Amino acid sequence: MPSYDVIVIGAGAAGLMCALTAGYRGQRVRVIDHANKAGKKILMSGGGRCNFTNLATAPRHFFSGNPHFAISALKRYTPQHFVELVERHGIEYVEKAPGQLFCADSAKAIVEMLLTECAWAGVEVSLSTTVERVERLGEGVRLKSSAGTFDAGAVVIASGGLSIPTLGASGFGYDLARQFGLEVTATRAALVPFTVTSQWKTALAALSGLSCPVAVSCGDGHYREPLLFTHRGLSGPAMLQASSHWEPGMALTIDWLPQLDVAEALRQGRRESPRKRLAGWLGEQLPRRLAQALGEWQGWPDTSLADLSNAQIDAIAEALARWQFKPAGTEGWRTAEVTLGGVDTRAISSKTFAVEGLPQLRFIGEVLDVTGQLGGFNFQWAWASGVACGQAV
Ligand code: FDA
Repeated sequence: MPSYDVIVIGAGAAGLMCALTAGYRGQRVRVIDHANKAGKKILMSGGGRCNFTNLATAPRHFFSGNPHFAISALKRYTPQHFVELVERHGIEYVEKAPGQLFCADSAKAIVEMLLTECAWAGVEVSLSTTVERVERLGEGVRLKSSAGTFDAGAVVIASGGLSIPTLGASGFGYDLARQFGLEVTATRAALVPFTVTSQWKTALAALSGLSCPVAVSCGDGHYREPLLFTHRGLSGPAMLQASSHWEPGMALTIDWLPQLDVAEALRQGRRESPRKRLAGWLGEQLPRRLAQALGEWQGWPDTSLADLSNAQIDAIAEALARWQFKPAGTEGWRTAEVTLGGVDTRAISSKTFAVEGLPQLRFIGEVLDVTGQLGGFNFQWAWASGVACGQAV
């Protein structure tokens, strides 16, 4: 029976990073994935250009029931380390938004880089291979798969979260965690667009494709990012970020003009251009279609600025700064970028990613209850947890 020092389940971001790190240490490593291609999510990410890290990565950009867990790995493998790897492979990148690094060309370069490193490190990668069973075997594990039975010193679970089942996502890691007596915290689709009621769908149809910078608040989350109207509902970075704080029934508070003191600007407009129409003034501050729609939804009078009372100005400013909206739901696992929740980290070492009392079993990446905000943080977690585990396993 073939035997390995380490078997990694999941040829995604965390799994490949862990495998190559362990391989370079001289460990005999095999990666198993049921998908027919490695790194499918990497290929899809960042609109095909993979936002592979964020230079501002810090623990505050992550959600977890155990907020200190991520600190150690993130500190030991920083965005700069990954940038050095990318540069060594001659991959060009761009900083599309502050701190957010994307491939200049294609996400394919990142997958090729990881597979090249795996090959250099002597790692074997088996795709289209189903894992049927993982069981404890003395100090190690025995793994039954569609490619045969393997013994290993350790198995690393890097099977990711539940988002986008068509890309190979499965609840495998959670089931395995439960099999070995670990807790799994409640999971929820996050970084996902919002859906709206059919009534709002009709109202928003005319705005489809329009994007504008807003400030959004949801629960304890506050973000200043663009919002995008789609034919299905509300999307764009602002909405994806807010979705990580949203639970059914909650309202979003949207500030349509976060950069402007609207009450002061309207009073100034009333003084300097008294004959200007309110709709015209709004159309200068916001995309015209949006200004018109907001005017209709709020029932604002089509009047000249001179005719607006101070009370009306204050009411308009308040409505623009605190527009309340209750989404019908989210698009769910079909389009979510990540899974909130996962394998409870309290029974896992933040240094080695080994399960307490069961060092032959390790969990890394998104399968754990560690989820990043939008902007390259999730990949940085995958790289950092993969390296930390690969150095220790
Ligand atoms: P990942 O999901 O990458 O890999 C898990 C692997 O395990 C997969 O290859 C899967 O096939 C395999 N697997 C699952 N079940 C299995 C089983 N039963 N048997 C064998 N194999 C199994 N993040 C970011 O930082 N920047 C970005 O630009 C984006 N963009 C983005 C876009 C889209 C569309 C999505 C869906 C996600 C993102 N993300 C992102 C999030 C990022 O892709 C995600 O957090 C990481 O890929 C997680 O890495 P993991 O290795 O943990 O799981």
